[in-house]
Amino acid sequence: MSRIEKALEKAVQMRQERAPERAPEKREPDAPVPKIFPADQHPEITSPYLITVQEPDSPVSEEYRKLKSLLVRMTRDKFLNTIMVTSTCKGEGKTITALNLAITLAQEYDHTVLLVDADLRAPSITKYLGIKNEAGLSDCLTNGRDIGSALVKTGIGKLVVFPAGATVENPVELLSSSRMKQLMEELKNRYRDRYIIFDTPPVLQFAEAHAIGSSVDGVVFVVGEGQAPMTDVKEAFRMLKDCEMLGVVFNNVASARFTEGYNYRYSYKYYKKSSYGD
Ligand SMILES: Nc1ncnc2c1ncn2[C@@H]1O[C@H](COP(=O)(O)OP(=O)(O)O)[C@@H](O)[C@H]1O
Ligand SMILES: [Mg+2]
Repeated sequence: MSRIEKALEKAVQMRQERAPERAPEKREPDAPVPKIFPADQHPEITSPYLITVQEPDSPVSEEYRKLKSLLVRMTRDKFLNTIMVTSTCKGEGKTITALNLAITLAQEYDHTVLLVDADLRAPSITKYLGIKNEAGLSDCLTNGRDIGSALVKTGIGKLVVFPAGATVENPVELLSSSRMKQLMEELKNRYRDRYIIFDTPPVLQFAEAHAIGSSVDGVVFVVGEGQAPMTDVKEAFRMLKDCEMLGVVFNNVASARFTEGYNYRYSYKYYKKSSYGD
């Protein structure tokens, strides 16, 4: 059995041991939990940053589970299923946060998740997962490709990835277009009972995050420790003031308590209703 399969097996075991949270989907309490989900492409995950697959029982994975539980609690009353992950500048950990959050949600039997790579400038979800970026969002927006034909079932729980697709010259126009709004509506209707997570470009440099942020139900904002100056973070918040800010993930924080026993660069995350920009 490969390392990934072992990790997935372990994740399934942990899922079975934990009582399920309230979920948007309904199922019979005694329905069998499927161990292996059908996959279109089997991910070749070698990235140590996808810790929720590599080390599902590590303290860092536990932090992602706490983040997921908070998110589920915050969004469950009126099931808010479209969530954007963004940050002030690049390299703060948007994609890693979006992926680990989506994987954690998908590892719970009751949550199916669609992860959309809406960072057409620097798409990296397929790279982190080791799957092909054959067709995706840009192709659906530019040549009317059917969404269903671009979605990739990963076999990691019920995680489905909508890759970025072919490189385009006008990402901001595409992602701010009425076609994009339509597509988001289509996704929302198609996956009414699922979480849809959008990974996006950074707020300060590019306009896409604002365009997507105003169409999603909520925004998770990543702040990488020691990266953007506070004035820039506040400016990014100001730019997203008409979006529903769910909270902040403080990412990649040096903290000894997460390093012990793990070959993984520590990261500590917290998630709370933000008061930035007040
Ligand atoms: N939690 C973390 N722990 C360790 N390194 C991290 C963490 N988050 C991000 N990094 C580092 O930052 C790099 C960029 O992360 P990524 O999520 O791709 O950034 P973004 O999508 O915001 O541009 C990663 O390849 C990794 O080297
Ligand atoms: Mg990214």
